[in-house]
Amino acid sequence: MTPSKIVGVFGSMRKNGNSDWMLNTLLNSAEKEGAEVQRVFLRDLKFEQCNGCDTCEVTGKCAIKDDMQTLYPKLIEANLIVVACPNYFKNVNGLTKTFIDRTNALLRKERQLKKKYAIGLLVGGEELEDTQHCEDALARFFKGHKMNTLLMLKVRADRKGEASQITGLENKLNEIGAKMGCGDKAFFESNRWKVGGLT
Ligand SMILES: Cc1cc2nc3c(=O)[nH]c(=O)nc-3n(C[C@H](O)[C@H](O)[C@H](O)COP(=O)(O)O)c2cc1C
Repeated sequence: MTPSKIVGVFGSMRKNGNSDWMLNTLLNSAEKEGAEVQRVFLRDLKFEQCNGCDTCEVTGKCAIKDDMQTLYPKLIEANLIVVACPNYFKNVNGLTKTFIDRTNALLRKERQLKKKYAIGLLVGGEELEDTQHCEDALARFFKGHKMNTLLMLKVRADRKGEASQITGLENKLNEIGAKMGCGDKAFFESNRWKVGGLT
């Protein structure tokens, strides 16, 4: 496979927090292998809630003219989309959910993200067994778009910097990043959603 075209979606409001670190580690490693990477920090975009106007059902386009309009083409051009977000009240945080809702425009008329590869990185302070709902929310977002979910990685970390202290996590992220970066055929074809959690 050719090197990947990756969009990394940073879903946390907390700058340099755990999910930022995880996604940056992954993307840096992918870049070293030749991937074309776009980093999207949702907290730096100005975008509204989906208002349910249903214009996208007819036009295939979102009627709200805000920063999501710059993100839609990036998502459409990517072959791999990685979303990293924190667990808030056992769900994806609000910023990530607003982003998810606004991608409705990419599936109502035509499934424009269909068959793209997807990876989810989740972080929360709780025991991993208690984070299933958050994982499901992200997995169902990918599934709703009929994307191929390669991996959902859950990590237990709370305070800023905690994720980077977890033994083995940096190596694991570097390893996954390298495989996605060079378009490792075996990774893309056989590594279908193996749930992996690290504490
Ligand atoms: C409002 C709020 C709600 C949270 N709810 C949960 C939760 O339900 N489960 C959990 O595991 N962690 C919860 N946390 C902890 C965060 O998920 C955790 O601090 C995470 O590391 C933050 O990631 P970030 O540094 O990428 O922002 C919550 C944090 C906040 C601020």
